[in-house]
Amino acid sequence: MTEKDAHLVIGSNGFQGGAVARALRAGGHEVRGFTRGSGAPNRGTGGVPTAHGDLADRNAVREAFEGVTHASVVLPLVFDVATIETYANNIVTAAREANVRRLVYNTNTPVPDTDTSYAAYDTRRIAEAILRDSGLPVVTLRPPVYLDNIFSPWNGPELAGDGVLSYPLPADLRVSWLSHDDLAAATVAALHREGLENTTLRIGGPEAVTGAELAAEFSRGTGRRIVFRPQEVGEFESRLGRVMGPEAASGVGGIYRWLAEEPDSELFVADHDTVRRELGITTTPIARWVAAQPWHIWLQGTGTT
Ligand SMILES: NC(=O)c1ccc[n+]([C@@H]2O[C@H](COP(=O)([O-])OP(=O)(O)OC[C@H]3O[C@@H](n4cnc5c(N)ncnc54)[C@H](OP(=O)(O)O)[C@@H]3O)[C@@H](O)[C@H]2O)c1
Repeated sequence: MTEKDAHLVIGSNGFQGGAVARALRAGGHEVRGFTRGSGAPNRGTGGVPTAHGDLADRNAVREAFEGVTHASVVLPLVFDVATIETYANNIVTAAREANVRRLVYNTNTPVPDTDTSYAAYDTRRIAEAILRDSGLPVVTLRPPVYLDNIFSPWNGPELAGDGVLSYPLPADLRVSWLSHDDLAAATVAALHREGLENTTLRIGGPEAVTGAELAAEFSRGTGRRIVFRPQEVGEFESRLGRVMGPEAASGVGGIYRWLAEEPDSELFVADHDTVRRELGITTTPIARWVAAQPWHIWLQGTGTT
């Protein structure tokens, strides 16, 4: 880092961007957030100065990039192709003008090589191609599923109350579950380590586990018996939709619909040795992450406490 490094975190009010903003601040970096400022509660960015604007507004994105040397990009859970193309093109234009030294793009999800007909994957592949082919010094991070999704209003109460871990994954599918904090550590490393330009990394946690193995790690972490329940995608979408709206929930649901058709896919297994070597980070074992979460908060108001 030089004196003049300035970091822009797109999506800084979200869980992923918020974790990145916090990690950058903890590392002593200058950080600026970017969101629409729609009035949604700040999710713990530690009060970073934030530029407000819409990713669809080219001038707002340009202004946000003024003086920026490093950018962390996570696109919102929007799955319309034209809108995502506009967001990505605006970011490319602004990042070129700012002459950024590194841009890290978090695709939200693993990305199959070919079209899937599910917008959750296809829009992320399109954005990835726009950013990668821009000639900018881009590092692409493809995360699997976040552990934090389970510590959520749509999963937390059932897990804490009934000991059931419902998730819309085929029971035998292996996933390298990753925490938001480890995503942030990976992003900070990808922003700063030498020689990573134009690489794509399949990041993830240290264990690639099936549903039953995931539940076993949750049992170890919580000290009580947790069982895995493969959930219907429709049920998942309806629970998620209550929090983030039906459109975003249905878009996200596409990730799991594709996996239901491809239960032998290894796409959600990280190349952990490469991640450790290239990024120099060690990700958190599942049981340790589980043990650190205050699960009891999901019991409040259910009559179980
Ligand atoms: N692989 C996975 O497991 C996976 C992947 C992605 C997300 N998720 C989960 O989904 C949930 C939501 O993710 P998240 O909180 O990181 O992201 P998010 O809710 O999609 O938030 C995105 C951020 O972008 C901003 N934003 C939205 N539309 C914008 C626009 N048009 N222009 C500029 N800024 C815009 C939002 O703030 P404003 O509203 O103020 O603009 C917010 O700061 C989390 O629980 C996360 O774990 C999981």
